[in-house]
Amino acid sequence: ARITLRQLLDHAAEHGYGVPAFNINNMEQGLAIMAAADAVDAPVIIQASRGARAYANDIVLARLIDALVEIYPHIPVCMHLDHGNGEPTCVTAIQNGFTSVMMDGSLLADGKTPADYDYNVGITRRVSDIAHWGGVSVEGELGVLGSLETGEGDKEDGHGAEGKLSHDQLLTDPDQAVDFVKKTKVDALAIAMGTSHGAYKFSRKPDGEILAMNVIEEIHKRLPNVHLVMHGSSSVPQDLQDIINAYGGEMPQTWGVPVEEIVRGIRHGVRKVNIDTDNRLAMTGAIRKVLATDKAEFDPRKYLKPAMEAMTKLCKLRLEQFGTAGNA
Ligand code: G3H
Ligand code: 13P
Ligand code: NA
Ligand code: ZN
Repeated sequence: ARITLRQLLDHAAEHGYGVPAFNINNMEQGLAIMAAADAVDAPVIIQASRGARAYANDIVLARLIDALVEIYPHIPVCMHLDHGNGEPTCVTAIQNGFTSVMMDGSLLADGKTPADYDYNVGITRRVSDIAHWGGVSVEGELGVLGSLETGEGDKEDGHGAEGKLSHDQLLTDPDQAVDFVKKTKVDALAIAMGTSHGAYKFSRKPDGEILAMNVIEEIHKRLPNVHLVMHGSSSVPQDLQDIINAYGGEMPQTWGVPVEEIVRGIRHGVRKVNIDTDNRLAMTGAIRKVLATDKAEFDPRKYLKPAMEAMTKLCKLRLEQFGTAGNA
């Protein structure tokens, strides 16, 4: 059944687990996520970005979610808009059956310019009012995602903050977080502590200098009843990098967010953990392997099926590691 983010994260908080939010762009990813949730009896958050909506078409996505919910009636599914950039993207997501929307007011609508605090409060509060009229949940974001190593926002895929960012922008201020939640009435709060989107997060295994998990602990102390969200939470596993590079890929060595750090976050109020890159790596590695090994193969099902299986495996693992398994 479809449930809201608020319903799901309230249950997660009560029982002390976290929920991965997996990004979706197509049928294969949808089926892979649901197969994993079903296998381990877990609720799940499926999220679509503006880019996903443009790629798949809103009507296709809406019917796809209907189908997934119908195939797995016993699995609670929260359908969430990832990184909405204004009232229109949030409202049209709601019209298409999303039960939760993210209003990311940490950046202006161009997705590149860091916004000032009042802009973020104003637009997030407006989206909260609209969404809550219809029983839809809202995630806000305070602080800008980006690297504490380089001071840069996301860059590889053309979205994220442009220009150099200060430590103040890259780390959510705990006192401001208290004020933000009070003024915006968000159901969940995404915070910044040194993660960024994509595969190239850290140039080494992160320590407390470049992955500031202490910020989460500080915010949780001040806001013990607020559901926290970690973006850029792919772990970028070495084995997935190795598969891609063994079959013709050329990915430079990189590091993501260690699972044990996420688990530590879950002990301190993190309830939603956004993962896209790990699934992209899993699928691409599987596809590369088939295409490099069976060079006469041309049936898409022959590489999409292994890609789905690789994604299901990754999703199952995270559902188990975050304690989501067994809570459907
Ligand atoms: O925001 C980051 C998510 O990984 C979605 O990425 O905007 O390329 O669909 P995307
Ligand atoms: P990753 O790129 O680390 O998977 O992060 C995804 C994300 O935060 C989507 O909003
Ligand atoms: Na989101
Ligand atoms: Zn994100």
